[in-house]
Amino acid sequence: MKRIVILISGRGSNMQALLEANLPCQVAAVISNRADAQGLEIARMRGVETAVVSHKDYADRVAFDAALAAKIDAHQPDLIVLAGFMRILTAGFVERYTGRLINIHPSLLPAYPGIDTHQRALTDGTRIHGCTVHFVTPDLDHGPIIIQAAVPVLRDDTAQSLSARVLGEEHRIFPQAVRWLCRNQVWLDQTGRVASDRLEQPGAALISPGLE
Ligand code: GRF
Repeated sequence: MKRIVILISGRGSNMQALLEANLPCQVAAVISNRADAQGLEIARMRGVETAVVSHKDYADRVAFDAALAAKIDAHQPDLIVLAGFMRILTAGFVERYTGRLINIHPSLLPAYPGIDTHQRALTDGTRIHGCTVHFVTPDLDHGPIIIQAAVPVLRDDTAQSLSARVLGEEHRIFPQAVRWLCRNQVWLDQTGRVASDRLEQPGAALISPGLE
């Protein structure tokens, strides 16, 4: 069975969705860069080993990433999952885990990389927004896409209401992506593209606002 390590910085709702998804892998540890991350307690309550590597204890990103990598590698994971991990990682760290490091981002990438994605989508008047699970590359929020979910943006949405709608989909697509990776049904190929041996499921179009 594959082993995964989950990295968090805060609330941990995506981590919780993974822990509750009955995945075909062992969650070896949850690691946070913040000791006060709420998700740590959720993991502990579920009997998952936790650790903190505080970025404040290190002089620079390179030193922090080296300490983080050492903590991760002690668990010999097949997959490292960024679930609301709010630190920018160095290229050296990312390249160490090529094809084994994934992230969830609250927008339909390549639209809205970075922060404040929901407010930016609202300000632009976009009608469809969503979330993305992707392999991590040194180019922030631009790695090869594994799965996306789209939601409608409604007339009275606030950043909060839109974020809640997107988060509900994050909790569905993240476990799906991890399940595929753990079963070797999806991988990063030699050319840096996402490959899969699954039959393609076309899904349905989302038109927003809906047609009459
Ligand atoms: C999620 O919206 C995720 O997409 C983003 O950070 C947020 C983390 O939320 N990367 P949680 O800690 O998983 O509840």
